[in-house]
Amino acid sequence: MKLKKVEIDMSNLPTHIAFIMDGNGRWAIKRKLSRTLGHKAGIEALRRVLDRSVMLGIKIISLYAFSTENWKRPKDEVDEIFRLLREYLNEDTKKIVEQGIKIVTMGDLSKLPEDIRQAFEKVIFDTKNCTKHIFNIGINYGGRPEIIRAVNSIIASGVKNIDEQDFKKYLYTVDLPDPDFIVRTSGEMRLSNFMPYQSAYSEFYFPKTYWPDFKEKELDNAIIEYQSRCRRFGAI
Ligand code: FPP
Repeated sequence: MKLKKVEIDMSNLPTHIAFIMDGNGRWAIKRKLSRTLGHKAGIEALRRVLDRSVMLGIKIISLYAFSTENWKRPKDEVDEIFRLLREYLNEDTKKIVEQGIKIVTMGDLSKLPEDIRQAFEKVIFDTKNCTKHIFNIGINYGGRPEIIRAVNSIIASGVKNIDEQDFKKYLYTVDLPDPDFIVRTSGEMRLSNFMPYQSAYSEFYFPKTYWPDFKEKELDNAIIEYQSRCRRFGAI
């Protein structure tokens, strides 16, 4: 029996896909490489995923680049992640602007090394007029700290009562719709503090593929999987 090839339905694309790019370390160790090389390969995967998303017309991509818990890693690894990030921002900004991608961030940038903070401020400024796509980078981001920060701002503002619509204004994602689809690679099936408030109605997908092996085909398959889901938002 010949199986029918399923293709992406271009009329039913998720507006916002969020990625937890997991498995860089395991990908490297499997190849007897340093974890650092796993992160380097992870950035190549990110480039491919971003390019393919742009080509398909995905409007918003969110990414968990560095969590509030990632500081617990050995200093050498943290330094190398930041070095790769800075290199990526320096090398890719021109292309990102050409692709019409506006970069925004979520997380506490004030705790980042000065050069990284400046690199982010520059890329946010350089892409501020881009309107085709949004690339939302979670950096020193944690969902619980985000909610606590929101609550503290509400207390400080003296507001006594708040509804969902107003609460959203205190989150990093104030200008973004919630993610339709959250993809975590490497087979781990948890959110690890990634957008817990915003993911209330997201569809989840946990491919076993390590992030560096997540190629265009894997993204296409993920979107096809999303399109097989029936989103009811509590209705019947
Ligand atoms: C998970 O792999 C990946 C990370 C902790 C993030 C690495 C971040 C970068 C490479 C920066 C890229 C960001 C941008 C915006 C360019 P892991 O080390 O947890 O893998 P493991 O679970 O197999 O050990």
